[in-house]
Amino acid sequence: MARITAAIASSHVPAIGAAIDNGKTEDAYWKPIFEGYEWTQQWLKEEKPDVVILVYNDHASAFSMDIIPTFAIGCAEEYQSADEGWGPRPVPPVVGEPDLAWHIAQSCILDEFDLTIINKMDVDHGLTVPMSLMFGQPDAWPVKVVPIAVNVVQYPPPTGNRCWMLGEAIARAVESFPEDLNVQIWGTGGMSHQLQGPRAGLINQPFDNAFLDDLTANPQRLREMPHIEYLREAGSEGIELVMWLIMRGALGDHVKPLHRHYHVPGSNTAVGHLVLKPE
Ligand code: DHB
Ligand code: FE
Repeated sequence: MARITAAIASSHVPAIGAAIDNGKTEDAYWKPIFEGYEWTQQWLKEEKPDVVILVYNDHASAFSMDIIPTFAIGCAEEYQSADEGWGPRPVPPVVGEPDLAWHIAQSCILDEFDLTIINKMDVDHGLTVPMSLMFGQPDAWPVKVVPIAVNVVQYPPPTGNRCWMLGEAIARAVESFPEDLNVQIWGTGGMSHQLQGPRAGLINQPFDNAFLDDLTANPQRLREMPHIEYLREAGSEGIELVMWLIMRGALGDHVKPLHRHYHVPGSNTAVGHLVLKPE
């Protein structure tokens, strides 16, 4: 039987990818960010997950205003790094897990959760930067990936509660997959940041730390948090945090935090990171 053994949350700042790709991880500005991932890199070497269900958002790289799926699942064999305007990142191709992905698609859709099925797409910093933060710069990524892409770019994004319920449906799907697989689920994006308009540069450390606390202590509060509160408190791009609730919803009622890291600033973003174990 496949099982979800652990979960990770992490921000996905594009400049972090550039810092890794250009050998700047020891620079004074970047070092405190990367130090917060050292524990996790070591832990992942011991945990050895087979597959990561990687919840992320595309930033108009694979999708555009032409087609905007609210929730999409990648069922492809492989995904290439997207060209976001300065060439594709020099990272290995992301290897998919089509059997598990199709099983999750079937299970969720028949469970009345209609995912868009994607058989071909490139993946941008939203997916590749978390991979680099967790695994460094290997010749090949040590896990297979099932991408779950969420629309948080064009209004209306899904509610936190809907994200939570998708996480629950994904957990049911994984539990009914007959192959013995060690599966992790990652929620990425966030934390507070606003890239545009008069409030560009907004960061809200008390909001972010309460969010990190309540993923363990009071997830019900986060499940009910309306979009306007993300916008007001965490900035226009802070809504990326709803993706963390898909991860959290997949873990059940009780979780144990194993590792936590928070650093401001990383580019325009508050960088948050959490490792959780279901109890
Ligand atoms: C930045 C952060 C993001 O989450 C993103 O997708 C793009 C840019 C930033 O901090 O610059
Ligand atoms: Fe983003």
